[in-house]
Amino acid sequence: MEITSNPTQNEIKRAAKALKDGHLVAFPTETVYGLGADATNEKAISRIYSVKGRPTNHPLIVHISSIGQLHKWAIDIPDYAIKLAKKFWPGPMTLILKRSDLAKDYVTGGQDNVALRVPNQPVALSLLSEFELLGGQGVAAPSANKFGAVSPTSAKAVKDEIGNLLKIEDLILDGGQSLVGIESTIIDCTKGGPTVLRPGAITYKMIKGLLGYIKNEKYAQIRVSGQFKSHYSPKAIVLLDTKPEPGDGFIAQAEILTPTGVIRLATPIDIDMFARDLYAALRLGDDKNLSRIVVYTPEGDGLSAAIRDRLEKAKSK
Ligand code: TXA
Ligand code: MG
Repeated sequence: MEITSNPTQNEIKRAAKALKDGHLVAFPTETVYGLGADATNEKAISRIYSVKGRPTNHPLIVHISSIGQLHKWAIDIPDYAIKLAKKFWPGPMTLILKRSDLAKDYVTGGQDNVALRVPNQPVALSLLSEFELLGGQGVAAPSANKFGAVSPTSAKAVKDEIGNLLKIEDLILDGGQSLVGIESTIIDCTKGGPTVLRPGAITYKMIKGLLGYIKNEKYAQIRVSGQFKSHYSPKAIVLLDTKPEPGDGFIAQAEILTPTGVIRLATPIDIDMFARDLYAALRLGDDKNLSRIVVYTPEGDGLSAAIRDRLEKAKSK
């Protein structure tokens, strides 16, 4: 496994070829780093599951270079989904659509629908275009972390997470820090109207602003949406909105001072920075072998709600 920093066009071409040959390529996106494989290669996909230690009924997101590729993977696409794609792609949004024959059970977890995204990151877009030039159809990529752990937002975090499980022919492309920092908004477009399954940087307000409505708006008010017991979790115990003790790690917005003896892990000055730096800060806590990390959660809707969603899942129960 090789890490290629700020890859040139030729290096990206080589990575596209590696994908086509059935190898894994971890690559940057604006949300988090993905662990990519040819979405039509069952053997390559099975390696994603074994590297991540992820149950095979958990479906993968197929990444494509543009909205033009959408019809290869999806059928019966509702008008509102096209509107969303035109407005927010490339960007931190994943659409769930009825699958075409190309989307096999090994990508969709046996479901009749498929998740699709056009990421907004130059290395990712270039990789996807080069892959399509080689005859590729799309790149299946979950976040490049072990199942249940914190998503990586840098190439180094990918290496720390799964580097030892990658083979010599696999690659990691380093495109710098992920600028959004939390995973894409997932919108189910198979239920007669847009239904947000995972909140993210494309917010309820933005979706409603474009379409005039959203199906599960009530859900937007819910603070907790934990599906799995531990997800997005560092090794340290994560505590929310309680007073940190000396020796604890601490993540809070800049205006909140660090109590004596507490180890500050991030000092975001606004919500965008909070999202961008959160996962790196949780990882830093683990690197420092801290046993507890206290986070003061941001208030409000939009990206703040998405941050709280992840932290509620990371929280030690
Ligand atoms: O920002 C992101 O979405 C990143 C980057 C790499 O694109 N990817 C990502 O993938 O977060 P992953 O696999 O870590 O999370 C995708 C989530 C999973 O919880 C999966 O169950 C859900 O999307 N998902 C995928 N396909 C689905 C489908 N057809 N129906 C419902 N949920 C689906
Ligand atoms: Mg993930």
